[in-house]
Amino acid sequence: MKILIVGSGGREHAFSWKIAQSPRVTKIFVAPGNAGTAQEPCVTNINLSKIDDLVEFAQKENIALTVIGPEAPLAAGIVDAFQKAGLKIFGPTKAAAQLESSKDFAKKFMQRYGIPTADAQTFTRLDDARAYIKKRGAPIVVKADGLAAGKGVVVAQTVDEAFAAVDAMLADNILGEAGSRVVIEDFLDGEEASFIVMADGAHVLPMATSQDHKRLCDHDEGPNTGGMGAYSPAPVVTPELHARIMREVITPTVQGMAAEGIRFTGFLYAGLMIDKNNNLKTLEFNCRMGDPETQPIMMRLKSDFVDLIEHGIDGTLDQIESEWDRRCALGVVLAAKGYPQKPETGAVISRLEEATEVAREGKADAEDVCVKIFHAGTKEESGNVVVSGGRVLCVTALGDSVRMAQKNAYAAAEKICFDGKQMRHDIGNRAVARSEK
Ligand code: AMP
Ligand code: GLY
Repeated sequence: MKILIVGSGGREHAFSWKIAQSPRVTKIFVAPGNAGTAQEPCVTNINLSKIDDLVEFAQKENIALTVIGPEAPLAAGIVDAFQKAGLKIFGPTKAAAQLESSKDFAKKFMQRYGIPTADAQTFTRLDDARAYIKKRGAPIVVKADGLAAGKGVVVAQTVDEAFAAVDAMLADNILGEAGSRVVIEDFLDGEEASFIVMADGAHVLPMATSQDHKRLCDHDEGPNTGGMGAYSPAPVVTPELHARIMREVITPTVQGMAAEGIRFTGFLYAGLMIDKNNNLKTLEFNCRMGDPETQPIMMRLKSDFVDLIEHGIDGTLDQIESEWDRRCALGVVLAAKGYPQKPETGAVISRLEEATEVAREGKADAEDVCVKIFHAGTKEESGNVVVSGGRVLCVTALGDSVRMAQKNAYAAAEKICFDGKQMRHDIGNRAVARSEK
């Protein structure tokens, strides 16, 4: 069967790598993909992005099913268009994708169904927003209602910072339409976890848990990014908490959406905050897999991903189980110079081969060391692999413990060279500390 994957990041490389392992798959197209997807067996990158063009391509090529990586095409209605054309696709419709594409929709939905989340209010008028900030005090969080490519959330430590954020969004329109409405919510303290499930409108199949590292620099300092590294599983999600998240967040979300006539099919990602007393709050929903969480999650998935996706599309996720590698997986993102504000592109990337080799050095049991370099912002140019985006690579490794996965990932990540390379040196430290307590 032929598969189409839409997107160009590390998440989509991990999808194509995993899907290529399915014995049922003969051909994979990635639109537009990157230099890494192009190197996977049976993968061809195609340079299409318009929904109509993708529909036409899927019809012409007889694509058996399509999987979507990023939120933008989902929010633009790619699933509706494919379904209308009678094509199989896994993802939420435009209406269901509002869980991510409108923070106001998500917040009101959570309030209606008693899903735990921070107290919040929505504003379009600057005066009202400022008055609310003054009343609540800092720290406080200002969120643009719409999609803003990771730039829409300001965690303000002072009232003045929060004022500046609402001024920029509501008065200066720096985010355009996306920031013309803001949700202002209470600041939450604790540890974050990413809880991702596959949903078929009625049933859910949880993916392995994971944790992302959003800030650019070590010790969670510096600006927010799309994610600088991730690992799976997330030890903060104990079995007891796992059951609570399913009961208090995931199930009411899928049931609530169905009750409102907007069945949610696709990956549902709840960003959670867990405090030291194990209080649980939902920070956000995403209607897709996380990036970079997908990379360690795919490394641990032992089941045939295509089977899982088919059950997701057919509404039979209750009839299948997923199998996971017991080892830990950890991914370290290598980012371009200037990321996240102004990434510089064009640098040549070298020593990619060596990076995979080095993780094997000195290991008695070479098969036990498994490192995969997932590409994100890369492209091929005159025989070289060059930087073409903010997050460039995600070096992901398995290990018997989170410490071993960390050691393997960093051994490889440190070998890779390109001008201006940025990476964190503490991905997974929290989990290591927790597991060795
Ligand atoms: P979101 O897109 O809503 O997940 O926000 C992006 C990031 O901002 C989250 O991953 C958190 O690190 C942070 N954040 C969002 N909401 C809050 C909150 N209420 N309290 C503290 N941090 C938050
Ligand atoms: N890693 C966070 C996200 O994908 O939104």
